[in-house]
Amino acid sequence: MRERTDGQGFATRAIHAGERPDPTTHAHNTPIYATATFAFDTAAEKEAAVDAALEWDPTSYFYSRTGNPTNRALEEKIASLEGAEDAIVAASGMASVSATLFAHLEQGDHIVVGDELFAITVVLWQEDLPRRGITVTAVDMTDLAAVEAAITPRTRLLFMETSTNPRLRVADIPALAAIAHRHGILLVADNTFLGPALLRPIEHGADIVLHAATKYLSGHGDAVSGVVSGKKHLLDPIRKQTDTFGQAASPFNSFLVLRGVRTLPLRSAKGSENAAALARFLEADERVDWVRYPGLASHPDHAVATRLLGDRCGAMVTFAPRGGVEGMAAFTDHLRLCDIGVSLGDVFTLVYPRPKDGGIIRVSVGCEDVGDLVEDFALGLSFVR
Ligand SMILES: Cc1ncc(COP(=O)(O)O)c(C=O)c1O
Repeated sequence: MRERTDGQGFATRAIHAGERPDPTTHAHNTPIYATATFAFDTAAEKEAAVDAALEWDPTSYFYSRTGNPTNRALEEKIASLEGAEDAIVAASGMASVSATLFAHLEQGDHIVVGDELFAITVVLWQEDLPRRGITVTAVDMTDLAAVEAAITPRTRLLFMETSTNPRLRVADIPALAAIAHRHGILLVADNTFLGPALLRPIEHGADIVLHAATKYLSGHGDAVSGVVSGKKHLLDPIRKQTDTFGQAASPFNSFLVLRGVRTLPLRSAKGSENAAALARFLEADERVDWVRYPGLASHPDHAVATRLLGDRCGAMVTFAPRGGVEGMAAFTDHLRLCDIGVSLGDVFTLVYPRPKDGGIIRVSVGCEDVGDLVEDFALGLSFVR
């Protein structure tokens, strides 16, 4: 096969990295390697492949729980986009979060986590880690003094979300990395809400970055998947953990995410543009109590967000219509274009009403024409008293 390049630019690598015509059939698209096991000509070849795979050579295949070529294509693409030495795909975003934490922590360790995290990550740190003798302190990651004060001699890592769920707080990653490294510990960043087209935490000093690939990386709401990136020596224990805990990615899902990532730069740009316009529209309406969008000057982390993200601040917007839970339902229940759903990162705009948070609405802004979104939101607001 002729010599190939992935190119230099982010958009080129989003399309080309990890993907090669199939060496036997020359199929242009990366195939779904729907196989549990791999066949060998000799016992010695089998032994060598198993040994290499279990030394965490990700391109040595013998059994698809441990490694699979479709999964590997996605790993190579994500590693390229994150600017990381390696990446590991897993069955879901939570598989990536849990494998990362369990691989790097043991009984007696302590970690510092953000005080606003995805709900199931909260279950993990409030229930699963303490049950295994790992203690946790939750702090506001935008309060650097509080982070520093929470670190103890037993602290092994800081775990943060790069834009938090649901209030979209944006912490200063370079400052957090400096604190972590001064204490000889790791900074782990869940970058699900932004994605690597907008923010690459490793470039800002994070050691490990992970995603629910279910969201922006897939971009089409059709697969559940997770991915972790970083230096290989930090990832090998995570690869082992996903193998032992049976958290392997499905090659079918990796195929879908591979296809999705190719358009990530286009979707991230359009989503950010739409979200900024929608945030401005909401902020100007008197039936809205408040709007959170990192690109708005009113956002508490606007300066940090602008420094890290420039003028593309992501496609998530959170707002509170007037009237609490009643106002929330009046808005969401009258929309005709945008559906109510709990996920995010889709090309379809999704609204997530949160009565337990006092009636706020988290919006994952999609790639529709912004005029249609504004029209639908104006319709929803017309029912808010
Ligand atoms: C920030 C964040 N991290 C992790 C996850 C978990 O991802 P998954 O649902 O693929 O397990 C989610 C899911 O919504 C999320 O929003």
